[in-house]
Amino acid sequence: MPSLSVYGAQWGDEGKGKIIDRLAAGADYVVRYQGGANAGHTVVVGEEKYVLHLIPSGILHPGKVNVVGNGVAIDPLKLLDEVSGLRERGVAVDGTNLRLSAGAHVIFSHHRRIDQLGERWLGDGKIGTTGRGIGPAYGDKARRCGLRVSDLLDAERCRDRLGAALAEKNAFIQAVHGEEPMELETELDRYISIGSRLEEFVCDTGALVRAAYRAGKQVLFEGAQGVMLDIDLGTYPYVTSSNTGPNGIPSGAAFPVGQVDQVVGIAKAYCTRVGEGPFPTEDHGAEGEAIRKAGNEFGATTGRPRRCGWFDAVAVRYATECHGTNGLVLTNLDVLSGFESLKVGVAYELDGQVFDEYPAHLPSLEGLRPQLETLPGWHENIEQARTWDDLPERARAYVEWLEERIRIPIVMLSVGPERDQVIPRGLSL
Ligand code: IMP
Repeated sequence: MPSLSVYGAQWGDEGKGKIIDRLAAGADYVVRYQGGANAGHTVVVGEEKYVLHLIPSGILHPGKVNVVGNGVAIDPLKLLDEVSGLRERGVAVDGTNLRLSAGAHVIFSHHRRIDQLGERWLGDGKIGTTGRGIGPAYGDKARRCGLRVSDLLDAERCRDRLGAALAEKNAFIQAVHGEEPMELETELDRYISIGSRLEEFVCDTGALVRAAYRAGKQVLFEGAQGVMLDIDLGTYPYVTSSNTGPNGIPSGAAFPVGQVDQVVGIAKAYCTRVGEGPFPTEDHGAEGEAIRKAGNEFGATTGRPRRCGWFDAVAVRYATECHGTNGLVLTNLDVLSGFESLKVGVAYELDGQVFDEYPAHLPSLEGLRPQLETLPGWHENIEQARTWDDLPERARAYVEWLEERIRIPIVMLSVGPERDQVIPRGLSL
């Protein structure tokens, strides 16, 4: 298939980095279309571990073009740090294998600061953001007062627009939060000089990717976060500020929706969530703790412990149905080895009413209780399994049972962090 969209079908952290890195081997272009440095895509290559925040996971494969589309909120300081970090480790990054959209919005220091001050202001009602300035930057985009990458390349324009933005933000920081304002000249100098460092990467990425597709190149769209964190489809207001699934591709990569040929969701064999917000199948007890320990469930971006619980078939079915998904990749199956029994959320219940399908009409999922079914676990270590037949019968039964519940095929299994720790079941690129 010439183009493939890979996205998270839970609350993020589904192990997309590894799967995209693997699929990138067969792609020519790897394209990010939303989110920003709130993402943390972990890829393990031999002894080396890479955590990518803004640069697409294809960067670790020589000869691939990695594209950061116009829908991504780019923090240029983080981006340049990431470029230097990769170069120091011998990964080539230049204007041939990394392309940035001139139209992508920029995250400035004041966005990060306002994100953090806003969370403090909300107190117990906070979202639990990553503090990376995502909401404030997308907010400015919607208010039409943001700056785009192209604005950084024109010193005079940058001075005007950033100066005006900072004047407003400073008034807000002082009046609402009673904090020290940002230093205008320092900020202007910093970002104007950054513009020249970005220049070699900047182009019209939409035109680039559409031309590549027309020429028969393989294009892989890399979603960040997950559908349950999508600003429109997720558990609002406990969401991020972008469209995380293939719904973000046409606007965030300037690529026609009708030319996205195949759509693949990624979900863990259990479920995790970072930050606040509803999580119906969360396990607050010893089993949740055991999953966190076995899966080393700590955030790749913030280091926060992830909340852990059981596979939520209702939420995953909703996520995959919304996106017309051809298949699901199930990750971290190895983490479940050793559990006597496994639970799966199959419905929700509220005040005696049962919801078999995701109740998107409710104001909140808060207070919903999960109906859980229990399946037998397995004890064998499955990290070395490479074919379906290598798996113990109970692990196969668990996967087949999930497949029935979510009504789409499970097309690949992941059984460890390494590139080769996968069991293909129909997915190739
Ligand atoms: P923000 O995107 O930093 O505004 O955070 C909004 C919500 O999305 C918070 O609950 C974050 O924990 C969550 N979030 C953002 N990015 C990721 C991610 O890459 N993985 C998991 N959760 C994320």
